[in-house]
Amino acid sequence: MSLLKHPLLWSAIVLGGLYTVFAYVLNPPIPQALLIWYMSICSVAVLLVVTFDNKTAARFFAPLLALFGAPSLMLLRVVAFVGVVAGVGYLTFNAVKPKIVSPVELRTVHPAPPSSLKAYGKTYDLLKLQNPYREEFDEASDEYKEIVAEGAELYYKNCVFCHGDLLDGTGHFAKTFTPRPINFQDVGMIAQLQEAFLFWRITKGGPGLPREGTPWASAMPVWEEMLQEDDVWKIISFLYDYTGYEPRSWELEDKPKEPETAPVDPNAPLDADAIEAVYMKRCSQCHGEEGDGLGVVADRMYPAPRDFTLGLFKYKTTDADSEFPTDEDLRRTIMEGLPGTAMPAWKTLLSDAEVTGLIQLIKEFGGWEEEDPEDLTPIEMGTPPKEVTPELLALGREQFVKACVQCHGEAGRGNITSGKRLKDDAQARIWPRNLTRPETWRWTKTAADVFQRLSAGIPGTPMPEHTSTMSLEDRWAIANYVMTLRDSATPLTEGDSVIRGLRVDGDLPDDPADEIWNTAPPMTFAMAPNIIKEPRLFTSLNDMVTVRVLYNDRDIAFRVDMDDRTYSVPGSDLEKAYRLEGVDPTRDAVALQFPAALSGTNEKPYFRLGDKKNPVNLWYWAAPSEDLAAPAIVEIRDAKGQAKPPKPRADSSALAANGVWKDGQWRVVFKRSLKTDTAEDLQFEEGVYTPIAFADWDGLNGEEGLRQAFTAWYWVLLEPEENPNRIMAIAAAAAALAGLLFIGIAIAARRRYNNV
Ligand code: HEC
Ligand code: HEC
Ligand code: HEC
Repeated sequence: MSLLKHPLLWSAIVLGGLYTVFAYVLNPPIPQALLIWYMSICSVAVLLVVTFDNKTAARFFAPLLALFGAPSLMLLRVVAFVGVVAGVGYLTFNAVKPKIVSPVELRTVHPAPPSSLKAYGKTYDLLKLQNPYREEFDEASDEYKEIVAEGAELYYKNCVFCHGDLLDGTGHFAKTFTPRPINFQDVGMIAQLQEAFLFWRITKGGPGLPREGTPWASAMPVWEEMLQEDDVWKIISFLYDYTGYEPRSWELEDKPKEPETAPVDPNAPLDADAIEAVYMKRCSQCHGEEGDGLGVVADRMYPAPRDFTLGLFKYKTTDADSEFPTDEDLRRTIMEGLPGTAMPAWKTLLSDAEVTGLIQLIKEFGGWEEEDPEDLTPIEMGTPPKEVTPELLALGREQFVKACVQCHGEAGRGNITSGKRLKDDAQARIWPRNLTRPETWRWTKTAADVFQRLSAGIPGTPMPEHTSTMSLEDRWAIANYVMTLRDSATPLTEGDSVIRGLRVDGDLPDDPADEIWNTAPPMTFAMAPNIIKEPRLFTSLNDMVTVRVLYNDRDIAFRVDMDDRTYSVPGSDLEKAYRLEGVDPTRDAVALQFPAALSGTNEKPYFRLGDKKNPVNLWYWAAPSEDLAAPAIVEIRDAKGQAKPPKPRADSSALAANGVWKDGQWRVVFKRSLKTDTAEDLQFEEGVYTPIAFADWDGLNGEEGLRQAFTAWYWVLLEPEENPNRIMAIAAAAAALAGLLFIGIAIAARRRYNNV
């Protein structure tokens, strides 16, 4: 009992309790520095209390005195000594060791709107502004339903690429953007907003945000430039209708309560009308009202949505002789979606009964609802190899070269080596899959999946079946080999936004193939086509960029890698073939973007080519012709926004660039000195976080000017080479100091013991 009343114990309890409250209970959490400050004050306070009278003080210090001085506690003392020395050394090491975290960028998601808004040549009072359609029509009326349907069409044509088919912010290109597109299904979003607020955000987009909303980073387009006023209201009506939320209004009028409906069993089968309604709401915008693949957005999608009337499906577990997939195959496609295409995963939004109904409807569109399931034969799998041996992979490579390289390329990047132009059954251009990028594989996850794809082929596309031409063993060998191709690409970087430049001795390489590049840490970012501003581009082919940075005491060099299936340089055979077909190819090109000057705050130029106040530097390289009739273009360009094309410098000699295309990939090296004498140039400095963004033009896709693919802002950091010995020395010194202090206290304590 007396132990519990011991001042040392309850001091520990009080301080422990306070720490728990500060560190874990308080919300939002307080910063580390403040926590240390609070705890120091509390410790001093506790010390004051316990040393207030001599008796308590003596009791308080007795155990400590014993620990340091009592002859009988020698062993414990040694343990404590080692613990203190090691602990201090470790903590110091951790504190001194360099850490790479990107600078904190706080942003207000819903900043206060202005009170009035100028758009479409009018001034709106945002406090009074109402959705005219909601005022004019009853929400249950046919007129209002028509408005919602028109809004849906506009949404799918313009917004779906970012905010997603499910309105949950996970559109096909959402990964490119930071901040990410808003999830309209989130209860904290549009349900908490007024329609006038949405009208402001949609018409003015990211650039219309106040400073605290980081207008320079938001990819939300300025829709005033591309949509009419009516269109915006129609889309707003659609957003609320699709999500089932009600907009917030100023007067909290008592809405008549919805009549109570009996809870519906989500798994009860649906009647034909109900299924038709689900299809019209969720699928028709892409797959067409009649299931013919001619939905309103079809021409803005690559690949195009499937035409169900053909009864032809790409992904199935039935063999090459069976015409149709099983119900389970269709269910898997609908639930999991097809990554790398606009076809979303529906598992979060559709019930089992709805999916069952949709499968039936898809069969009816194709006229095969009566199909006998007996006619569906599963792909014969044989016995998969027990082990992945080097021999198996060697056999796989050998067969891959024979059967797959002509379409999928030497390294598997989907660059056709046969020289053929591939078309699908609908005569649309089609590209073999990039087998190094599993993010874009539609159905394939495992070696068994690859086995199935190559055995049965991909119906409707040139990808042939190999069941009749290849043994089971060979097919399994290829399947396992294909899985190893994934490792030759750097996976998409998630979350991390800092590219670390590596300091090297000696000259920086001009050659993209130089081995030294392998020592620099690579980062891969998603690119999206310009769906933000006219002239828009919806169907880009290059979707990722990998970057590495090297520097020395004079220069800095970047190597940028882009998977690009086509070698589009002036005068290439491919380019000539395209011209004959009436396509006007441009040159493959790539650009790096930097702010012209660092702001010193987290504020940056607008991520698309800067803005009036904040210009950007572009380092631009375009591919040379094969016969050197047209050399590469290497230019420094200055841009102040998207209104005018970036201006090339009269003298760009400060920049050197060199690009090589091999096996479906461009590797381009850019080099400049860290510092220049030009006032418009960004100057690089060690240890400074410098914003960087990327853009890319695929020549044979006719990309040019604003019709390009690009990334958001990232950071590059020239990481000063930390001498590991220096860090160790600091940690050792701190540990030694702690040790000396310990010994000092112990000697003093021992003396007191001897005196007592
Ligand atoms: C290029 C991608 C992109 C496209 C296309 C796009 N948005 Fe956005 N949108 C964003 C991003 C990113 C944000 C989050 C940043 C911000 O608030 O500005 C956002 C935010 C919004 C917001 C703000 C929501 C809030 O809670 O403040 C609304 C409303 C919105 N988008 C509506 C639309 C509509 C309607 C369309 C189509 C007409 C559309 N967006 C098309 C990227 C996009
Ligand atoms: C935003 C557009 C979009 C929406 C909405 C959409 N799909 Fe798709 N869907 C696609 C695209 C694009 C493809 C073709 C992908 C390809 O060819 O690789 C596709 C393909 C399919 C396929 C064929 C798979 C195969 O093996 O060939 C099925 C089945 C399908 N969708 C069902 C649905 C259903 C059911 C819905 C509604 C719940 C739906 N889709 C909604 C875009 C969409
Ligand atoms: C005549 C050209 C051609 C040949 C030969 C060919 N493929 Fe393909 N392959 C394609 C095309 C085209 C696609 C993309 C189809 C699409 O997107 O609809 C594809 C797609 C794929 C996919 C992607 C499946 C998914 O889920 O995304 C895999 C895996 C694949 N092929 C493996 C192989 C292997 C292994 C071989 C050799 C045995 C091979 N292919 C031979 C043209 C070909």
